[in-house]
Amino acid sequence: MAPALNASPSFLVVLLFAFLGFSSGNVLFSTLPRTLVVSASPQPGQVLKAGEDKITVTWSLNGTAPAGTDTSYKTVQLKLCYAPVSQVDRAWRKTKDDLAKDKTCTHLMGSRPYEGGNQTYEYLVQKDVPTASYFVRAYALDGSKVQVGFGQTTDKAKDTNLFEVEAITGRHASLDIAASCFSAFSVLSLAGFFMAEKRRGSHPTPSPVANM
Ligand SMILES: *[C@@H]1O[C@H](CO)[C@@H](O)[C@H](O)[C@H]1NC(C)=O
Ligand SMILES: *[C@@H]1O[C@H](CO)[C@@H](O)[C@H](O)[C@H]1NC(C)=O
Repeated sequence: MAPALNASPSFLVVLLFAFLGFSSGNVLFSTLPRTLVVSASPQPGQVLKAGEDKITVTWSLNGTAPAGTDTSYKTVQLKLCYAPVSQVDRAWRKTKDDLAKDKTCTHLMGSRPYEGGNQTYEYLVQKDVPTASYFVRAYALDGSKVQVGFGQTTDKAKDTNLFEVEAITGRHASLDIAASCFSAFSVLSLAGFFMAEKRRGSHPTPSPVANM
């Protein structure tokens, strides 16, 4: 018993630090100032095809933000976010104020160093983006990759200026599978052909002349 009792205070200290470290990393969305002005190329209601269409995102600091607001901004992280209409009955897309648990914006479009001024980024809608209504949100991250500000292409209620993504259809998917099976087959038959050639090369069949 004695060794365990001796060990416990330092163990508790370690636990406490772990807890503090963990909890201080959790940012609540409701505490973030909306400092970035963000726009994206899709028109309201436009339907984009996953794997084909692109989105151009533009952002800059809101001119009314107090001077020095962006001194801690190091990176801008761009995310594709589900509109509330596409979150209904889907717990895996649920919005949580704690950004570490939030599932609104699960699709990372990309990250760029924060430079001030107008910046743009072009994103190809990835094939794994499901059919849903979306908006774009940009997070300003500080040097420790902690969110310190944001901006988004929709209003606070997240119901205006939304666009749609149409996932790869069943027909597309089966074509993709057929195409990849076909190319795997060609690679295999090519490999088989070369192996057969190599074998023939290393054991040449005696020529009729040599037999004579
Ligand atoms: C800039 O911020 C102000 C104050 O928060 C806000 O009223 C205004 O709409 C913002 N401008 C843009 C272009 O988002
Ligand atoms: C960003 O672009 C907008 C319009 O495209 C322009 O009105 C604004 O002045 C630009 N801001 C900066 C900081 O370059």
